[in-house]
Amino acid sequence: MSSSKQQSKLQEAKAEVLSLLNVLSDKVDLEKKLGVSYIQLDPIIKKRIPHGENVVSHPSTLGPDIDTHNEETEVELSRSEKIEELRKLEEQVKKCTKCDLCESRTNVVFGVGDPDARLMFVGEAPGYYEDEQGEPFVGKAGQLLTKIIESIGMKRSDVYLANILKCRPPENRNPNTNEIVMCSPHSIKQIEIIRPEIICALGIFAAQTLLDTTESIGELRGKFFEYQKAKLLATYHPAYLLRNPDDKRKVWEDIKKVRDYLREGSA
Ligand code: URA
Repeated sequence: MSSSKQQSKLQEAKAEVLSLLNVLSDKVDLEKKLGVSYIQLDPIIKKRIPHGENVVSHPSTLGPDIDTHNEETEVELSRSEKIEELRKLEEQVKKCTKCDLCESRTNVVFGVGDPDARLMFVGEAPGYYEDEQGEPFVGKAGQLLTKIIESIGMKRSDVYLANILKCRPPENRNPNTNEIVMCSPHSIKQIEIIRPEIICALGIFAAQTLLDTTESIGELRGKFFEYQKAKLLATYHPAYLLRNPDDKRKVWEDIKKVRDYLREGSA
C-alpha cells in the first residue's frame, strides 16, 4: 500500500475513533444530566426505626442514585464552618441551570434558619411569595408552618427551613421527576452540613424524595425513620392543611412526637 493510501486509512481510523469518543461523551453527559453517578455512593440509611412490630421497608424507586457524599462533611462542622459551607452551596445553587425552572425563577430559594438547628423542615418547592422574596415558607402555608413551629415552643429562627426544589415551578404545579432528580442533591447536601437531629418532611414530595419511596403520605406520616444520622418524620404539608383543616389534628399528633423527641432524645 502506498504511503498516501496509508495516510488516508490512518485519517479514516482517527475520524472513526473521534466519532466514537463523541458518542461516548454525549452518552456520559446525558447520563450525568439524568443524575447517574460515577462516584461511589453514600450509604445513606433510610430504614424505619423498629417501633414494636411495625417495621416497614421501602423499595428504592425514585430516580437514579445520586452521589451526595462528601468527605468534608463527614466530620461535625463548627457553627462558622457550617455557615461557610452553606454560603458556598448557596452560591452554587444560585447559578444552577440544571432544569428549566432556572428560566422562570425570580429568585433561587435556598433555605433559611439556624445552621446549628436541631430541627429542620423540608418542604416541596417555593411558591409565588417565596420566589418573590427568596425565602422559604413566607406565604399562607408558611404562616401556618410558623404557627406549627410555635406550637411546640420554638421560633422560626430556631429551626432550618428548606425545600426539595429551590426554584418555583410555574403556577405552583407539582415538581416533576427530572426537577426532583436534579435539585434534591442540594437539600441532601444542606442536611449533611446542618446535621439536624430531626428532619420533618412536609408533604408527599419531601417524604418520598428523602425516603426514596413511592408510599403514600398517609402511610408514611407520623412514623420515625432513620435518615443519615438524623431521625426523619413526615407529616402533611401546611398547604394541604389549608385545604383540609380537619387533618390539622393529625399534624398536631405528629409534631408532638417531634417535640417529645427533642425533649427526651428518643423516638
Ligand atoms: N410550600 C413549600 O413547600 N415550600 C415553601 O417554601 C412554600 C410553600
